Amino acid sequence: MRTPFIAGNWKMNKTVGEAIAFVDEFRGLVAGVAGVDIALCPAFIALEATVKATAGTNIAVGAQGMFWKESGAYTGEVSPSMVKDVGCKYVIIGHSERRGRFGVPEAGMTEDLLKVFGDTDASVNVKSSAALQHDLTPIICVGETLDERQAGNADAVVQSQVRAALAGFTADQVPGVVLAYEPVWAIGTGETCESNEANRVCGLIRQTIAAVAGPSVADTVRVQYGGSVKPDNIEELIGKSDIDGALVGGASLKPDSFAALVKASAL
Ligand code: PGA
Repeated sequence: MRTPFIAGNWKMNKTVGEAIAFVDEFRGLVAGVAGVDIALCPAFIALEATVKATAGTNIAVGAQGMFWKESGAYTGEVSPSMVKDVGCKYVIIGHSERRGRFGVPEAGMTEDLLKVFGDTDASVNVKSSAALQHDLTPIICVGETLDERQAGNADAVVQSQVRAALAGFTADQVPGVVLAYEPVWAIGTGETCESNEANRVCGLIRQTIAAVAGPSVADTVRVQYGGSVKPDNIEELIGKSDIDGALVGGASLKPDSFAALVKASAL
């Protein structure tokens, strides 16, 4: 039995003070809620405060990304040991926004500016591997764009991203990861992937994991769905056989809506 896992990705939202205020309200709303793992993923700058504010609760903390090297001349980057040291348990790797793949096209975001978001299949692989080496659980994000789906390539894109992310992993490393199926067209758009289709692709991800590490390992790995998850669609999604939780953006920003997602997902 896989424990459901609900993670809130705050993206570039919330100052330190706002993060603390969120936790002050949220921890009471989920106190005593068991049968579900909960994580909050603030910006780097609010990690320490969020770790302190959640100490002694059932809420874990994750980073939204990291570099893969231990230290060195990498201006602006944050290392795996820094993420671990501050008290994180999780780290999101390869979110579509970090890969420069946006659900909602933004005015002024030229090809050149998009290069700022530089994750690739190769960087997702080395970052995921570095996370495991530092006893962090990577939440590895995969998903197709609308163009890829309309061209009939959704399955091929997702399978190839999963295979690339796990390339070189041994069967005993794979249980340490979480996968998140995040169709790019459903992120921040209000358009959720239909639950049967989301479940089908999450099942495809599990089959791809099985091809790398065997079916018994694949059975233990949690596969989240992400993309416009809200209190009014979580029950439908979480009820599906291959959906083990959610990676949540917008609906994780308010304590009451995020608590509703957590409670609806508890076993
Ligand atoms: P959303 O974002 O819930 O706002 O669609 C999901 C995500 O990017 O993980």
